[in-house]
Amino acid sequence: MSRLLVEGGTVVSASGAAPCDVLVDGEKIAALLAPGSAPSSGELTRIDATGKLVVPGGIDVHTHMEMPFGGTFSSDTFFTGTRAAAFGGTTTIVDFAIQPRGASPREGLDTWMGRADGHCAIDFGFHMILSDVNDAALKEMEGLVADGVTSFKLFMAYPGVFYSDDGQILSAMQRAADCGALIMMHAENGIAIDVLVAQALAAGRREPKAHGETRPPALEGEATHRAIVLAGVAGCPLYIVHLSAAEALEEVAAARDAGRPVFAETCPQYLFLDASLMASEGFEGAKYVCSPPIRPAVHHEALWRGLGTDDLSVVSTDHCPFCMKDQKELGRGDFSKIPNGLPGVEHRMDLVYQGVVERRISLQRFVELTSTAPARLFGMYPKKGSLLPGADADLVVYDPEARHVLGVASHHMAVDYSAYEGTEVTGAVDTVIARGEVVVDHGAFRGKEGYGQFVARAPFAGVDVPVPARGDRAQVPGVFGAGAS
Ligand code: URP
Ligand code: ZN
Ligand code: ZN
Repeated sequence: MSRLLVEGGTVVSASGAAPCDVLVDGEKIAALLAPGSAPSSGELTRIDATGKLVVPGGIDVHTHMEMPFGGTFSSDTFFTGTRAAAFGGTTTIVDFAIQPRGASPREGLDTWMGRADGHCAIDFGFHMILSDVNDAALKEMEGLVADGVTSFKLFMAYPGVFYSDDGQILSAMQRAADCGALIMMHAENGIAIDVLVAQALAAGRREPKAHGETRPPALEGEATHRAIVLAGVAGCPLYIVHLSAAEALEEVAAARDAGRPVFAETCPQYLFLDASLMASEGFEGAKYVCSPPIRPAVHHEALWRGLGTDDLSVVSTDHCPFCMKDQKELGRGDFSKIPNGLPGVEHRMDLVYQGVVERRISLQRFVELTSTAPARLFGMYPKKGSLLPGADADLVVYDPEARHVLGVASHHMAVDYSAYEGTEVTGAVDTVIARGEVVVDHGAFRGKEGYGQFVARAPFAGVDVPVPARGDRAQVPGVFGAGAS
């Protein structure tokens, strides 16, 4: 079994930072050692981290590789997408299997497992998108949780595609409360949005900019509020995905202030990309079409504050790339047909690190947002998201001073544009170790297709508020059910 020593660096965890050498034995962290104190006996591969940070491998809990959408598939395969993730310092992804309409969640999981298993360069897990909530699907949830698929995404958007109505949402939430699952919510009022889209098309609007204008922040705030109310009635924990608007953040903050098990993530596009980009020359705005849409800078500021106060617990990417050629182009002449989604899995660590550079968040918070909190919330901690002895040896040697420019010429994602073209960042990945193997070494890929293993995740436990059994819910005033304010 190979042994590695990452020496001379500053080890950063979600709770502190200290000079330490990290001893890796096989796939696991063996020890954190005082600098220079490693035993000299036995064969040891040494990795020099002098002047560098050593952080737990990034965990991106929101990706869509090979995802069918709008008549095409997102352009990264599980191999190209996870290789790109590794280049960016991410060592685990959690992607979304989709229950096809008219079929069972288990069929969806089998299909996605067939696409990912044997192809991922880093470890991977799955959430399950419920797109057809019925009695049979609800019954299946428990078995999926037992098999390590412990989170379920529901959509208040996309009527006729992924949409669930409030009754279906409540039923799925009740089931989640019973079987220890976490409900993830795409919180946009899709019924109202479809009216605005139809009106915009009828008024002759065709260009990408109309995508953003027909998905106003108020409809994200409303849906977020409704999701929180429904989760309270069901007594289940709730995780709002890809939160983009200050209005939605206010709802999450109010729920958390009331002690409710409500969590949210945001994504780099909602922290860095201004809504005005959708009005770019010609059809260029299509590059930035995603849902919820990118917002004006006032929202970015609110979201950075939310990351600081922990009202936002995670930064994921919602990586869902579509090439301009042949894919985004499907919506030329009709903004509502532009495939929704942005590439980003490779840039998450670097972009969140800009928060450290700009003194918006601490180094520890950087680690918490990109690795430790996602591991805790999604049942992977401390195997993932930590550098504790016994944890998987997933770690990144990160150069805090190196500067580089993001763009299509240098990125590794299988997509023909970059949403961050020309953006210069401070901080860069040097070396990435995934379960004890060096997979990226100073810009060279050393991993292999199929190295990544499926991560069976534990049921939800990432909350200190006790989750009462169904029958007891109403007896916890202000937190769950009838007593909730
Ligand atoms: O525009 C987006 N977000 N595309 C991916 C699908 C989703 O809703 O997460
Ligand atoms: Zn979504
Ligand atoms: Zn998504």
